[in-house]
Amino acid sequence: MPADTAPTGTTPGSVVTRNREALASVEQVPGVPKPDPIMVVDKLTRSFGGLTAVSVDHLEVQRSVITGLIGPNGAGKTTLFNLLTGFDKPNTGTWDYYDVQDGGGVWQPRSLRGLAAHKVARRGVVRTFQLTKALAKLTVLDNMKLGATGQSGERFLTALVPSLWSKQEKEIEARALDLLARFKLDTKKDDFAGTLSGGQRKLLEMARALMTDPKVVMLDEPMAGVNPALTQSLLGHVKDLREEGMSVIFVEHDMDVVRDISDWVVVMAQGSVIAEGPSDSITRNREVVDAYLGAHHDQALSFDEEQARIAAAEAELAKVAGLDADVLIAQATSGNTGLARMASDPGEKQKPSDRIAHDDKDER
Ligand SMILES: Nc1ncnc2c1ncn2[C@@H]1O[C@H](COP(=O)(O)OP(=O)(O)O)[C@@H](O)[C@H]1O
Ligand SMILES: [Mg+2]
Repeated sequence: MPADTAPTGTTPGSVVTRNREALASVEQVPGVPKPDPIMVVDKLTRSFGGLTAVSVDHLEVQRSVITGLIGPNGAGKTTLFNLLTGFDKPNTGTWDYYDVQDGGGVWQPRSLRGLAAHKVARRGVVRTFQLTKALAKLTVLDNMKLGATGQSGERFLTALVPSLWSKQEKEIEARALDLLARFKLDTKKDDFAGTLSGGQRKLLEMARALMTDPKVVMLDEPMAGVNPALTQSLLGHVKDLREEGMSVIFVEHDMDVVRDISDWVVVMAQGSVIAEGPSDSITRNREVVDAYLGAHHDQALSFDEEQARIAAAEAELAKVAGLDADVLIAQATSGNTGLARMASDPGEKQKPSDRIAHDDKDER
């Protein structure tokens, strides 16, 4: 196979078109191999006490298409995202990322196991959070700049050390402004992220995830709490990611949205993949809808629950990576950038009250 030079976008002959069409002949059984996988997960498990949150025997994610990930609340979707992006560590299992071709054009697997979130992000795999993680007391533009280093959390603070920061600052700012314009947030660039509506924060989070120029984008309920007027715009942005050749994995409860947007749908329940197939057949599969989406499928995780989990996962990862957040903050604050001062302010974290206050205020 020659090196892949097919155009992006949904034109005939493009990677996207080819890979979408190829899914038509894939068997509809859990764990089925894909013709052109970008991510292959094997025997991945994660338990919390006695509870098995994730137990995925095998899962392949097709390159350059949109994969919808559905399942009832508590099925393990967020935990799977946390594992794949380095925000949590599995008990067992591996996952390979096929992002580099050899001289003959054959995609080569590289394991992402054991990498911290910022390193996974630099390799091109990013995610957004079910509840947005924009730093309320940083401006929209500063939030974007932080995105250039990877993901949110203490590891971001290395980016605030002026000596490391200044080198590429212009380039990073130009990219941030481009992305903000694309997401129609450019007029808000100097506003604190805390003043944005819930939907605008979702847009900001998606824009920020793109700062590292990712190949795989995992979106955890990007539409949750977003007003319907903004939903269409968000959906358009998600389709645009695919147009540009990115592989998108997308958690969503609304079946109409899932059907509209997904090229392939994976159904999780109780930590495992229990069905997968083209969106039409999966979303019309009454058994899947009734048995696995149940009555409580649209209950969101509480803000505090998600924050506690993320904090615990980040603390564990920081330990593993040998990073000391206090040292980083001290370094950052010895410079005199506004960004550094903000980083030292323990009030920077988004509070539940910030979020609630803006949830119903989508104007776009
Ligand atoms: N940090 C954690 N500590 C304890 N239990 C957790 C933690 N994270 C997730 N869980 C549990 O794991 C299961 C899967 O959760 P989650 O991945 O959030 O599901 P989903 O995103 O599909 O709703 C749930 O039962 C949840 O309560
Ligand atoms: Mg979740």
